[in-house]
Amino acid sequence: MSEQSPGQKRFEMVLGGKLGKGVLQIMDSPVAGWDPFTKSYYVVRFLRKEQMSLLWIYDIQPNLDWNWARLNGASIDAGDTFFRRESATGRDLGVLAASLHKKTHHSLRVLDALCGCGIRSLRYLIEADADFVWANDANENHGNVILSNLSQVSRGFGENRRWVVTHCDANAVMADSFVHKEYFDFIDVDSFGSDSSFLRPAFNALRFGGLLYLTSTDGYTSGGHRPQHCLAAYGAYLRPMPYSNELGLRMLIAGAVREASVLGYHVAPLFSYYSYHGPVFRVLLQVKRGKLPNNSHYSFIGYCNKCGNSQAISWDRLGQIRCPCNLNVPGSLLVSGPLYTGPLHSATYLAEMLNLAEQWGWTGNGTGKDLKKLLKQLIDESDPKLPFGFIKLDELASRAKIDSPPLLTMMSALHKNDPRLDLTKIYWKSLVITSIFVAITWWMLQEGYVTSRSHIASNAIKTNCPMAECIRIARELRQC
Ligand SMILES: C[S@@+](CC[C@H](N)C(=O)[O-])C[C@H]1O[C@@H](n2cnc3c(N)ncnc32)[C@H](O)[C@@H]1O
Repeated sequence: MSEQSPGQKRFEMVLGGKLGKGVLQIMDSPVAGWDPFTKSYYVVRFLRKEQMSLLWIYDIQPNLDWNWARLNGASIDAGDTFFRRESATGRDLGVLAASLHKKTHHSLRVLDALCGCGIRSLRYLIEADADFVWANDANENHGNVILSNLSQVSRGFGENRRWVVTHCDANAVMADSFVHKEYFDFIDVDSFGSDSSFLRPAFNALRFGGLLYLTSTDGYTSGGHRPQHCLAAYGAYLRPMPYSNELGLRMLIAGAVREASVLGYHVAPLFSYYSYHGPVFRVLLQVKRGKLPNNSHYSFIGYCNKCGNSQAISWDRLGQIRCPCNLNVPGSLLVSGPLYTGPLHSATYLAEMLNLAEQWGWTGNGTGKDLKKLLKQLIDESDPKLPFGFIKLDELASRAKIDSPPLLTMMSALHKNDPRLDLTKIYWKSLVITSIFVAITWWMLQEGYVTSRSHIASNAIKTNCPMAECIRIARELRQC
């Protein structure tokens, strides 16, 4: 094991039964510590006289990949590879989807195209019971780590071969599989940034009805700060909008919709998941044969800075774009697109995932997985009546001018130089926001609008109620 300073992540130890007493004993050691960044206990030992090396990371943070490994007795060495423990939920979702595919189609051939240390490949083999996994990472230096991780599963020979490891460009692997007609049922492209060059080769290498699990980590582009780059990568011109993290998912799907249609396919998102670390945008797409349906949800999105209203703009209305508020302030109407504007998930599919997660004991108390909450939230978001985007309650409160200025102003005056001020402020603010959220949701239901929370922003609502109406309702509530 090479050198490592404490606080950095080098080696993930899957706990088995060692959580608790073992950790406490180790904590008594003078060379043990708590890493606030990874929220993990670590133990260090001296490798050489002048250098310290991280020996184990003891995961006590619950939302990690340890549950499956505890059950299966496997462990993962991340070595020098790029590995994020925070991506555990993204990996969980991929494994659930791959497993559902195996259960329905009775065969599962997976390509883990950018596999890092091979954790996904191992999980697809063990948990999703993949018949075959191709683990590929362009970096040859990762070879030993991947091999040692995967060798926990018997490799098999000939027709029964369970896995292979290669170090090629992901596009070369996919092109090769296309040429040799050796298609995959599930392709996982866990790439960095907004590299969309993988899209077309992935569609070519996928069996019809197969699943493509895509990633983008380019929050800067989805935030509307690099529209030209976004245009090149995903064929969409993005401007800064309040729900830019949702647009990140829609941008990724739109890029896939465009590439798929070139090949005569169309795609449907089964789930879309945003995670703030990174940030990471992940979508699971089902690829179907046939051209884009007429109602393809592939259009433009307008947001008026002046009134806060959002609207979908179809291609045939591009020449007549105006905001219903008619304020016509130059520059107030931002238009992004083309983007995917349809539902981000399939509720039926998510319900199957949730069911499987429950069967596997991933949702019960003590598993540490917040999957149940997440999947339920995604199911709520799947209502086809809900439009794209969300309304942040901060924005609503500010537009409706219903914040509690007297209270906050007074507190501000009283505690002007008190460091506790911010906490107090946040406490009251969140209390106010939560009660407004509950009240607004109830009221909108009475008024016949559809609402849900958003897994992307905790203080936001998704609704088909226009901003002006939301403001009216919020003001009425305030007067009650
Ligand atoms: C985000 S990491 C993968 C993390 C891994 N999937 C996990 O869940 O821990 C991306 C990996 O892609 C590899 N990579 C980068 N460009 C690549 C390419 N064009 N083809 C194949 N692998 C590539 C990098 O070496 C890196 O290990």
